[in-house]
Amino acid sequence: MDVMELFSPIAIAVLGSCVLFLFSWWKNLHAPPCIQGWIPWIGAGFEFGKAPLEFIEKARIKYGPVFTIFAMGNRMTFVTEEEGIDVLLKSKHVDFELAVQSPLYHTAQIPKNIFFALNEKLHVLVKGKMGALNMHHFTGPLTEEFQHQLEGLGAHGTMDLNDFVRHLLYPTTLNTLFMKGLFLTDKRNVKEFYQHFKTYDEGIEYGSQLPGWLLRNWSKSKRWLMELFEKNIKDIKTHRSSGHSGTIFQAVLETVEMETRQHSPNYGLLMLWAALANATPFFTQFGELKDDGGLGLITFWTLGYILSHPDLHRTILESISSVFGTAGKDKIEVSEDDLKKLLLIKWCILESIRLRAPGIITRKVVKPVKILAGGQQPLGRKDNHTVPSGDLLMLSPFWLHRNPKYFPEPESFKPERWRETHLDKYIFLDYFMGFGGGKFQCPGRWFALLEIQLCIILVLYKYECRLLDPLPNQT
Ligand code: HEM
Repeated sequence: MDVMELFSPIAIAVLGSCVLFLFSWWKNLHAPPCIQGWIPWIGAGFEFGKAPLEFIEKARIKYGPVFTIFAMGNRMTFVTEEEGIDVLLKSKHVDFELAVQSPLYHTAQIPKNIFFALNEKLHVLVKGKMGALNMHHFTGPLTEEFQHQLEGLGAHGTMDLNDFVRHLLYPTTLNTLFMKGLFLTDKRNVKEFYQHFKTYDEGIEYGSQLPGWLLRNWSKSKRWLMELFEKNIKDIKTHRSSGHSGTIFQAVLETVEMETRQHSPNYGLLMLWAALANATPFFTQFGELKDDGGLGLITFWTLGYILSHPDLHRTILESISSVFGTAGKDKIEVSEDDLKKLLLIKWCILESIRLRAPGIITRKVVKPVKILAGGQQPLGRKDNHTVPSGDLLMLSPFWLHRNPKYFPEPESFKPERWRETHLDKYIFLDYFMGFGGGKFQCPGRWFALLEIQLCIILVLYKYECRLLDPLPNQT
């Protein structure tokens, strides 16, 4: 046998490995510093999973404003300052839909082709229907719903704040966005819904990544929620409430059914989850912010902050009674003008979102993107970074909102910082990312702000509230 015959496959393999090594070294020459642990695939997943928020902040201090964490097979490149944020929100080479498609498939079983065919259309539709200028359509129905739910709670009592807000928000949101009386018709029904939604929401962290058969309880609850939509889809489509042009979900269904009828219930589940629990799977995957979602979470914190600041609480009560008179009437009507007079409550909501923003903003890099090295470079690095395609670009509003460069005295609850915003022109403070940003910014944001504002007005009008326990810690 010719020696060359034996030698050449080995030589080729060695040479090939060298070329591959050199290529990946060259490719990563300008890649951001990467924290990758030593366990294959899991990478830094265990340490990151223990306390993700702390992990991100420590990495920022050690590696600078742009760094990559390799965990659970994903390369997640975090950006924390303006240069990276601009790329995440504006670059043509990063993509929202590619970043969320796979977790959403596991979350609501929407096939890839259907998701890509429909997502942009649905985003535009919901954004239009829930735009700031359309909010006056929702003020009356939301007020009525909240008052109805409050009636059921009686005149006094002690209740866990989380349960209290959920009890008000879930039925109100479902009756308004989907169809009145859709699921929550009696107490047993409500309890069952809470339990399944809780299991589903809490399990999203793994549910959005792993096959369903590995997570029996989660899959059972997902099935239960999906069946609710399956059973009710016909009624939802035909239901017409008096004097109302149809719910948001009815409009969503019309668009979905131009593409597919089979997946209408899946979109019901997806919209339900987007509205009630929008901590994104990528973040919950690592064990953070599991206990509640957007609307409930933010209402909980806003009420909590107001009640734990006596001066603020007093000022808000005075402004509520100056608009509606002293408490005691069974029912009140709330107008657009009334809401404008109670802007302080809206500032409190935005300040609570600033401090307690759920979730993370994520985009997939489809072509390498350059990020100029700004901010502090702790390891003496001055180079710019090139983030390779395939990376997930991540932004943590929690930390961004705590950067004193953008929000002075960031740890203080200061609703007055929102005085400078032009909410009348629908503009938030610079670098406020509680609702994401760019083309795919949360289309439900004005609805969320309105709903929470009404909830707080009506609760504080009806009840003399007091916190029995201190608010939980920051992290
Ligand atoms: C306080 C409550 C809420 C918060 C903090 C919140 C926050 C967010 C965030 C951060 C995103 C990701 C945006 C991005 O990646 O740039 C998002 C997306 C989304 N939100 Fe909200 N949201 C809230 C309430 C709602 C409500 C009430 C709805 C009602 C339908 C809603 C519907 C959606 C939808 C459909 C998306 C996905 C957009 C798309 O796929 O194009 N959200 N939300």
